[in-house]
Amino acid sequence: GVSLKYLLDFGTQPLERQMLLSARFLHAEIPIRLAHRLMDLNHLPPKLSEEPHVRRVKGWYAESFADFRSFPAIKDHLDVLRFTAMLKKAFRRHNNVVPAIAKGVEEYKRDLQVGVESTEERESEIQHFLDTFFLSRIAIRFLAGHHISMLDPPRPDHIGLVHTRCSPYLVGLRFPAKAFVWIAQQQPFPLPRVWFVFPPSPPPPPLPAGTPQVFELVKNSLRAVQERFSESEWEPPPIQVVVAEGLEDVTIKVSDQGGGIPRSGLARIWTYLYTTASSPLPDVDIDSTNMPVVLAGYGCGLPLSRLYAR
Ligand SMILES: Nc1ncnc2c1ncn2[C@@H]1O[C@H](COP(=O)(O)OP(=O)(O)OP(=O)(O)O)[C@@H](O)[C@H]1O
Ligand SMILES: [Mg+2]
Repeated sequence: GVSLKYLLDFGTQPLERQMLLSARFLHAEIPIRLAHRLMDLNHLPPKLSEEPHVRRVKGWYAESFADFRSFPAIKDHLDVLRFTAMLKKAFRRHNNVVPAIAKGVEEYKRDLQVGVESTEERESEIQHFLDTFFLSRIAIRFLAGHHISMLDPPRPDHIGLVHTRCSPYLVGLRFPAKAFVWIAQQQPFPLPRVWFVFPPSPPPPPLPAGTPQVFELVKNSLRAVQERFSESEWEPPPIQVVVAEGLEDVTIKVSDQGGGIPRSGLARIWTYLYTTASSPLPDVDIDSTNMPVVLAGYGCGLPLSRLYAR
């Protein structure tokens, strides 16, 4: 497995040597992972596996696999630079995998509802596939992104994608802030305040900086508060972010007074595509670089955040 230590080691050796090792590792490792995912896609129920969006995704995986396999052995720094350019191209090719798969699954489910196949069994099979598929995607993109960013101009307090001083405090502060800026640009409405409740002890060791879970949670809270209070004469009540440090782990808790998840919906919140907002998927064009930006509606926020947390 690849550990946080492996990622931080990039900063301890001469960069050229480290990048050579990293390129060789990715050159061997990524095509194996791509091949596994392609096999999984081929083993889906035939109607889903052959759905046009899913077929596009299979095409991307096959193309990237071929790029890696046809790339010659990496011998020197020039090879590393060429390899990294190929890696970047593959990285971009896969940008829209999540909406493409979501769209494919949505279309397939619509067909199921009118068809005769048992939906319940299929449903759990698909959810399991999506968890495996997206978790693998997160890992591949983290490894590739880390390698690529090592060759970008250095950023303070970063080794590649890892923020060397990133503590739960920083995550707890930074992601709500990001969510607010993002939302203020998209659909302005009176924003609630955020209360931060942090312990007084010194920050624990580094975390990967790309942890987006808190962002998704704050987004959900903002939506809940907006729906409940946008027409109300009352000021929207604050969202609370609590960071608590345990002996072995850290808890970051986001809570709001938007009314919570109805009991009848609780069982479904980890299900991909479960949403109570209107879905932007019908307007999604997977060839476009700009997906419709919505406060909620993809129904992927919670299940994907759980994968990132894992
Ligand atoms: N803080 C919250 N308050 C009330 N309901 C919530 C809250 N968080 C989640 N939910 C419910 O859970 C559903 C699923 O949330 P999730 O984040 O997975 O998807 P979404 O917000 O609908 O879409 P997106 O993928 O765009 O985030 C939401 O549609 C909403 O009904
Ligand atoms: Mg959400």
